[in-house]
Amino acid sequence: MAEAGSFAEKVKQQADIVRVIGEYVRLRKTGQNFTGLCPFHQEKTPSFSVHPVKQMFYCFGCHEGGDVFKFVMQVERCEFPEAVRTVAEKCGIPIPRATERSPEERRQNQQRAALVEIHREAAAFYGRQLHQSAEGKVAVAYLEDRGLDRESMSRFGLGHAPGSGDALLRHLKPKYPAKILDASGLFSHDQGGRIYDRFRRRIMFPIANESGKVIAFGGRSMGDDMPKYLNSPETPIYSKSNVLYHLDRAKEAIRQNDFVILVEGYMDAIAVARAGFANVVASCGTSLAEPQIKLLGRFTRRIIVNYDADAAGQAAAERSLALLLEKEFDVRVLTLPGGADPDQYLKQYGADAYRKLLASAPSYLDYLIARARQMDRSTAAGKLAAINFLMPYVQRIPNALMRSEWASRISAELRVDEPVLRESMRRAAAERRGNVQPKPELLSPAIAPAERRLIQMLAEPNNIRGRLAREIGANRLHCGLLAEKVFEILIAAAGSNASLDPASVAEGLADSERQMLFEAIFETSAGANWEEAESCLAALRQRTVARELVAELVELQKKIESKLPLDEILKLQARRQELQRKLVGR
Ligand code: UTP
Ligand code: MN
Repeated sequence: MAEAGSFAEKVKQQADIVRVIGEYVRLRKTGQNFTGLCPFHQEKTPSFSVHPVKQMFYCFGCHEGGDVFKFVMQVERCEFPEAVRTVAEKCGIPIPRATERSPEERRQNQQRAALVEIHREAAAFYGRQLHQSAEGKVAVAYLEDRGLDRESMSRFGLGHAPGSGDALLRHLKPKYPAKILDASGLFSHDQGGRIYDRFRRRIMFPIANESGKVIAFGGRSMGDDMPKYLNSPETPIYSKSNVLYHLDRAKEAIRQNDFVILVEGYMDAIAVARAGFANVVASCGTSLAEPQIKLLGRFTRRIIVNYDADAAGQAAAERSLALLLEKEFDVRVLTLPGGADPDQYLKQYGADAYRKLLASAPSYLDYLIARARQMDRSTAAGKLAAINFLMPYVQRIPNALMRSEWASRISAELRVDEPVLRESMRRAAAERRGNVQPKPELLSPAIAPAERRLIQMLAEPNNIRGRLAREIGANRLHCGLLAEKVFEILIAAAGSNASLDPASVAEGLADSERQMLFEAIFETSAGANWEEAESCLAALRQRTVARELVAELVELQKKIESKLPLDEILKLQARRQELQRKLVGR
């Protein structure tokens, strides 16, 4: 909970929940709120709402809700202090040292900062080597030969690692302790333990994280040196499966175009971006890992996979595709004619031809069916092989309706009997792994409109809140209501001087109660006035009166049924009639 005067409270006041959540969920303005697809359960139509004024989120589907910290805790699966720091970082709010949890964490942060600094210096160093050194001339010539001009080399931060073996080391050694240099991944050891430059005589491609900081390198040899590309190892700031090459420059374009082009290599990404498609990222030679897909999913769910046409590229593509499908991406596949990679294709045919191919890239299902068609299906065994090829993909589709659509398409296209296919589908579905079940719907508690409106008026800042709370509290009008606990908490909060924070108030409530509170808060409200409040209160009062009458009637009935003198019974019966009239006439 964000305590008054705490750093967390400061962050919460400065942070814009729409912007923070907007990094994870594509939000659209609808009325006074923003809505999008809920990141906490699977859904096709948006029931996830963000309230810019109240700085809260709530999902009408799975009932997850709260403030910006709660969101980050849920989505990043982290604890409160970490969520505060994450939000602070995203919003550029300087974090006081005291909030760094432990000395160990402080040490790690310092190390990471130094490693980022080293990479910044190394990138500048390699850049100077490319553009200014005699050795770099060969590299420039190589790159020019591949169609890059100097301007593009600078634009993509390309560099050159000299062949000497200790050029970078000599440059950095005076400034950084050996331990940090060692952790950077930019150096290797020989058998005698002597440290030397990891990258030698290579074209250097800086790899940046999402915010554009260089955190690793890929180095291409210009001759026959093996391997063709040498990459940075995993370091405290670089984890291969969490990074996509060129994402830092692509993310805005990905959002705007609402799709991303996925290619294999550094040169491919550069070529595609230069051709005018800024929304391109490279997975760097391997298939996509789950964190990379999660990363992409924050910007778009539509992807065109444009891997190399060679066997390795196809295999990588198909592995990536399976995972993308599982995450419900809308996937299309572009295989370039003549076995070209995007870089080669663009060089030969130009941007317009590439644009046309992009536009006509088949959906993933069509692509797979085309691949299955290439198999020999003249025999039963052949047909089975084709089905077995397709089935793992079908198996991964989370949506049953989609799976069934696929089955019909496959059976039609491959001329397999649908029942046979359906049986194997059924089995496939039963074995499906990683099935994410949506949360069971909570029973929506029936809460009267008047109660709901009162909750709303109590939960938002207005000039009648205090009076309203006193009125309800003093007459105990909320007693016995379904939302009794909600009222209790709101009344207490309205009474204290602290400004009400519905998100932290909600912490003390049961699921169904929290649901009542959030739904009332998220309902579009017209602003409170005492007249309306009075009419809602009247409804509560009537309810209270009615409840009392019913209670008395029940008591009366019991007495009437017991053995009493006749005149007593007659009196009671008269009273009963009176009560019944009151109840009906209310
Ligand atoms: P490719 O071999 O297709 O290279 O590998 P490329 O991107 O077309 O490069 P050029 O055009 O020959 O210069 C695709 C990607 O796989 C990774 C690199 O990220 C490369 O861009 N890779 C490839 C490696 O990491 N190591 C290798 O030895 C080869
Ligand atoms: Mn290539």
